Amino acid sequence: MPHDETTFPFPPGPHGGPPHAYTSRRSACPLAPVVLPSGDEVLLATAYDDVKAVLGDPRFSRNLRYAGAPRMLPDADFTDDPDALVNMDPPEHTRLRRIAQAAFTPRQAESRRARIQAVADELLAEMRAGGPPADLMVTFAFPLPINIICDLLGVPTRDSPQFRHWSDMFLSTSAAAAPERRKVGAEFAAYVDGLIAARRRDPGEDLLDELINAHDEDDRLSAVELARIVRGLIIAGHETTGNVIGRGIITLLRHPEQLAALREHPALLPSAVEEILRTEVPGHGGLLRVATDALSLPSGGTVARGQGVLAPVVAANYDPERFPAPDTFDVRRADNKHVTFGHGPHFCLGANLARVELQVAIGSLVRELPDLALAGSAQDLTWIGGSRVCGVSQLPVTW
Ligand code: HEM
Repeated sequence: MPHDETTFPFPPGPHGGPPHAYTSRRSACPLAPVVLPSGDEVLLATAYDDVKAVLGDPRFSRNLRYAGAPRMLPDADFTDDPDALVNMDPPEHTRLRRIAQAAFTPRQAESRRARIQAVADELLAEMRAGGPPADLMVTFAFPLPINIICDLLGVPTRDSPQFRHWSDMFLSTSAAAAPERRKVGAEFAAYVDGLIAARRRDPGEDLLDELINAHDEDDRLSAVELARIVRGLIIAGHETTGNVIGRGIITLLRHPEQLAALREHPALLPSAVEEILRTEVPGHGGLLRVATDALSLPSGGTVARGQGVLAPVVAANYDPERFPAPDTFDVRRADNKHVTFGHGPHFCLGANLARVELQVAIGSLVRELPDLALAGSAQDLTWIGGSRVCGVSQLPVTW
């Protein structure tokens, strides 16, 4: 294996596409060692069936907090946070997840579509009033998911700029230093506590009320658990969704015949969004897991007890065994069982909501801005990150 394919993370492909190393490793050896930025060596899975097997089996643990556990980064990062749902194993995870899930069903996401559309309409009106040109990331793609969370939680309108400022500080693209982030984290936690207390005194009909009332038999979320989940939703749902919106628009503009098909047949919107989700994965790395037992994977590879495994969903989404012509962007793609929202116990809690947000966002931009175009060339866009977040920080457009 070439040396540049043994050190993680790999540089993204053209236009933020999956790293080339995933293709070559998948055909040569779909489960092979890689060295992480921490210096730890783990196995990297690149075949669809292997990625699903790792994500779906709770014997691949997300608890990486014991001494000597493999780490992605040399310094502390959010995988050290024992309160994040995604860092918990059963049975702790199972209980919290079961309760929180009650507020995130497909029916609930659908019932929020009209409010999501109203938020998108408002942002589009502001963007039109100020341009063209405009930076689509700053005026629409990032504000949309955070404004929706504010709206769904029932954050008072007067507080939403403050709320947005706090959540922007959590974006990995934020330039804020660690002490500033800590200060903001404490302010934000106090704000969320106050919001929950006020809503307990004076109930409404928002997502926050659903979470307060969400229960499993006699079991409810405690105040502390509720506050953690609310903070977690903001962090998990903001940057991911914003990046998929931005990346989706770039890809549609790079494929004018696909964009034209979508404009001509608006009924293609759901399958176009699924294809955007398959190809425009917002991060190329994924979260590390550790095998709690000796395990074997469908490709025939084996994992020793205690060994770390990385199973990036983007590698699975481009497996030609599962997706014919995976490099072709096709808004009509059938049987599109991508794993962009993960698989198994940690399957994205916000997937139903994110799907509606993406359908509203992409649908509105395509419908309302028939002359939407990049202000420069796609080659000139600057791509950031790769492993955890892969997107553009600026997306200048005209219309
Ligand atoms: C397009 C946007 C999104 C993408 C691509 C995405 C992707 C993912 C993925 C891959 C996971 C599983 C990680 C793993 O197992 O290693 C996950 C978990 C999670 N996501 Fe999302 N997500 C998105 C939007 C959202 C939104 C809008 C919310 C909430 C409002 C959200 C909340 C969560 C939470 C709470 C978890 C942890 C679930 C658990 O551990 O049980 N996500 N997401």
